This record gives sequence, C-alpha cells and structure tokens, in this order.
Amino acid sequence: MPSITTVLSPALFEHAVTDVDKKTVIIIDVLRATTTIVVAMENGAKSILPVEELSVAANAGESFLKAAERQGQKVEGFDMGNSPKEYTQENISGRDIVLTTTNGTRAIVRATGANEILVSSYRNLLATYHYLVSQQCDLVLSCSGWKNQTNIEDTLFAGELASMLIQTGFDTDNDATHLAVSLFENHKNNEKKLLNQASHVKRFEKLGVNDLDVCLMRDTYSEVLRVHDGVIRNPMF
Ligand code: MLT
Repeated sequence: MPSITTVLSPALFEHAVTDVDKKTVIIIDVLRATTTIVVAMENGAKSILPVEELSVAANAGESFLKAAERQGQKVEGFDMGNSPKEYTQENISGRDIVLTTTNGTRAIVRATGANEILVSSYRNLLATYHYLVSQQCDLVLSCSGWKNQTNIEDTLFAGELASMLIQTGFDTDNDATHLAVSLFENHKNNEKKLLNQASHVKRFEKLGVNDLDVCLMRDTYSEVLRVHDGVIRNPMF
C-alpha cells in the first residue's frame, strides 16, 4: 500500500524524505499561501509563479501582478500581499501572478524534483483527497510552518488529510504522521478553538489581519492544483 510521510517543518524535509523523485508532495500553508493560491485560481487567475526571493518577484516581467508577504504583511512596493481577500475576480482574473511569501512559496520551490507537487488547503481538501486516493502514490505532506518551526494550522490540516487517506488503506511512514493525525482527531469539529492558540493567528491579531475564517472555508474549489515546471496554472485555461 502507498505510504504517507509527514514533514512538520521545511527544516525536516531533507531528513524525513527519501526518493522524492518517486513521491507526490502536497504543500500545506493554510495561513495563508496555499489558501491564497487556491482562492486565486477559484477567481480566475491564469497562473501563479511561486518564488523564494523578493528580488526575483520584484523583477518579474511587466505582465505579472507582483505579490509579496513578509512577517504576515504586504511588502511595500508590490501590487498585492498574501491575503486571500485581495485575490478577487476583479483584481486577478486572467492575470499571471508572481508570489513570494515567508514560508509557503519557499516550501513549494524546495519540493522541486518531486514526482508531482500539489498545493492544497481547506478550500480544495476533498478534491486533493479524491485525487490522491485515485493515484495510490507514496506521499509527502509538507507543512510550511513558520520560519522552520512547526505550526498548529498546517499540522492540523496534514492530520485531517492523513486520517482520511489512512481510512482508505494508506500506510504511515513516520511518527510525524501519527502526531498530526492525533492532533486532528483530538480537535476535529473544534478546530477554531485550537487555532485561536496558533502563533500565526496571534500574529494576525496584532497586525489587524482577519483572514482565519476565509482560510477555514471548506471545499469551495473542486480542482487539484499542481506545480508544473515551477508554475501553478489554472486548470480552466
Ligand atoms: C507564509 O507563506 O508564510 C504565510 O502564508 C504567511 C502569511 O501569509 O501570513
């Protein structure tokens, strides 16, 4: 049976993952990069180019909408930040976007070399789950965390996805998967109470960022999002 390896922080990726060229890596950054990417596709963005460095995003071609977040805030001089609420049809439909965030886009870039790279969030959890069940490949659930620390929200999401997959026969390949599943199973149907303790939610409160609810909305998008040659392209185009 295919197996699940969960990586709770990007710093653990190289230690936890072997033969990445044979695995499907699911990038998780619930607050907010992978949620923002899904919402952007839902609202008609043509493509998203995730990059690690601000300078690369700033120097992307004229045709790109340039988006950057650091420390949870939009970076001065860019067209957009990383709040899903900015990615409305009016703002982004039909556009190519270059995006750099503190953790999530870094995690996407670092997964280069995987057999397949998916971007997932609560907004397309079911679509991701059904695809993974159909593919029956060995998986890596890659949590973006915060500056190489683990975080509650990505671990909780990984636990829910892993719990669903295990019920269909997937094996678990490391203790981190059991930790994530245990966190989910002990807090399911009461996620928000737990998430209110998350460091990034507390950071948002200090910044006046009110994005938790929009990031917890479920299955508003029924497509699987893939990173192909470093770019996430809208399946509708
Ligand atoms: C990240 O990529 O680290 C997060 O999405 C940060 C944020 O947008 O608040």
